[in-house]
Amino acid sequence: MRKPFIVANWKMHKNVEQSVAFLHKVLDRLPNGDHVDIGIAPQSFATYPMIEITQHTNLQIISQNAATKYDGAYTGEISVKDLKDMGINYVMLGHSERRRFFHESNQIVNQKVLAAANIGVTPIVCTNEDEESIVINNKRYYILRQLHNVLQGLSIEQLQKVILSFEPTSSIGEGHEMNLQLAERGCQLLRQQIRLFYGNDVANRIRILYGGSVNPENIAQVMDQPDVDGVLIGRASLDPEKFVQMANYQN
Ligand code: G3H
Repeated sequence: MRKPFIVANWKMHKNVEQSVAFLHKVLDRLPNGDHVDIGIAPQSFATYPMIEITQHTNLQIISQNAATKYDGAYTGEISVKDLKDMGINYVMLGHSERRRFFHESNQIVNQKVLAAANIGVTPIVCTNEDEESIVINNKRYYILRQLHNVLQGLSIEQLQKVILSFEPTSSIGEGHEMNLQLAERGCQLLRQQIRLFYGNDVANRIRILYGGSVNPENIAQVMDQPDVDGVLIGRASLDPEKFVQMANYQN
């Protein structure tokens, strides 16, 4: 049985003061972690105070990015080794905004994934639309090709721990809506590909998250889909009341 994972991706929102204030509003209203994992990915400078506040709780503080190298002369980068030393267990890699605005290629994302996995930080590997297509209601969506490139070089043991996410660009951000059918179909296709390339054991264990316009009204529906093991939430996760509602969703 795959444990659901609800991840808030705050992107470039909330300063340290706002991030800490948010935690104080929600911490005692989150589920205890027996049946669901909950995480927040704040801006990088807010991770440290948030780790300190949450160290005796089940809430995971997640990094939104990390470098391909552990240390050295790489101005502006974030070392996944130092994230680990700070107590961070998960790092998001290859989000569509990193690819779109910062030109991260599959090759770079792959190097980041290997750097994280090799040091024992679990990568949340984001996939979005690429060249293999699915058609739903006469509309064509592209996914998947990048999957194999970004996972190259991982051992079977590492693959079992990796978390994937499927985020259709057409559902992310202001003015968009979640398409339930697409959410399940995308996660299902990712799992099928994993099954084909890495076998049943990995496919049955790997957690696949859906991201794109998840909110308190639609979270239970999407979490109910057979291949969706969790969600990556942007806008709706910025509001503490909505975040608490989504963390306590009921199927
Ligand atoms: O990482 C989160 C996704 O980009 C979805 O963002 O919930 O604001 O559509 P959104």
